[in-house]
Amino acid sequence: MGSANGLLKGWKTAGPRLMILIIIVLQALGLGASWPQEPTQPRIDEEITKQEKIYRSQGADVPSGYVTGRALSDYLELLSSSFCDALGTLSSSDRWLDIGAGSGQAILDYYAPEDAPPAQKCAGAGGKVRAVAMSIEDRRTDKWQQRAASLGDERIRYLSGKRLRQYSAEELGKFQIITDVYGGFSYTEDLSVFMEKTLSLLDIGGVFYTLAQGVHLEDGKEKPNTWYLTELVDAAGRDVKVCSWLKKTTCVKVSCESKADWRPPIEAFHVQKICNDVTVPPLEPLHYQAGTPPERRFKLVNRAE
Ligand SMILES: C[S@@+](CC[C@H](N)C(=O)[O-])C[C@H]1O[C@@H](n2cnc3c(N)ncnc32)[C@H](O)[C@@H]1O
Repeated sequence: MGSANGLLKGWKTAGPRLMILIIIVLQALGLGASWPQEPTQPRIDEEITKQEKIYRSQGADVPSGYVTGRALSDYLELLSSSFCDALGTLSSSDRWLDIGAGSGQAILDYYAPEDAPPAQKCAGAGGKVRAVAMSIEDRRTDKWQQRAASLGDERIRYLSGKRLRQYSAEELGKFQIITDVYGGFSYTEDLSVFMEKTLSLLDIGGVFYTLAQGVHLEDGKEKPNTWYLTELVDAAGRDVKVCSWLKKTTCVKVSCESKADWRPPIEAFHVQKICNDVTVPPLEPLHYQAGTPPERRFKLVNRAE
């Protein structure tokens, strides 16, 4: 890690503690200090506009951190360990949605021609599932177009031009597996709405596989100087782990795999829908700063609020 980067990360983790100290001192002096104003909605809107530019970027303008062509092997490394086997148990009439698919490389690898060099394709005896790649911007390559045409029968589809929440249930249908690797789950400014929409598209028994980097890990084993990218707090301002928040959702079974040795640390989530009455604990955005992925902070809101 570069030293400037390290210093920056150190400052970011020390910042809140320093701020608390300043507030305590000011209050002791009777100066009535309070928390600095959280960014207001117009500020968040400004950052969303910057984020849109990242989505639309092409060629040399694409920021280096905005990776849109991860292979299926990357998905296998990043997602929960059961992902490949789960795909392998499905049949050719089942469906896989990849939210935030970028160029759709993971789906292309899964659908590699039989004579392609041996690769982990995760296809079981039941054949290959129908796959839908979703991306805000169209990042299809010639390879995608050719493969889609040669497979025919809409075995692989690519949807672009809008965000997940803008699709109706009828447009998308139901899925047995949904993945999201640095897609909407990492980029949305409205995480609870995103989760609710995603879970509404799963069949009962279906699984949502996703991940988040720079979060408070379930096993608490991240390094002390971790730069948190997605933070959740409760109404009293106390940290809430993303895994704990997901586990408060009704009608799902959640397991979390902490990957503390990754830089930054990663948590992989396996969220299985077990009944239809899904309610995701609502979150309110407090902070959003455009990036790859963006820096976000959310507050858990009481349903009564
Ligand atoms: C960094 S790329 C990741 C691409 C791919 N998963 C990979 O790992 O190479 C982010 C992708 O998420 C998509 N995305 C972000 N927010 C989204 C949302 N709310 N709905 C649908 N797609 C979204 C972007 O359009 C883009 O395709």
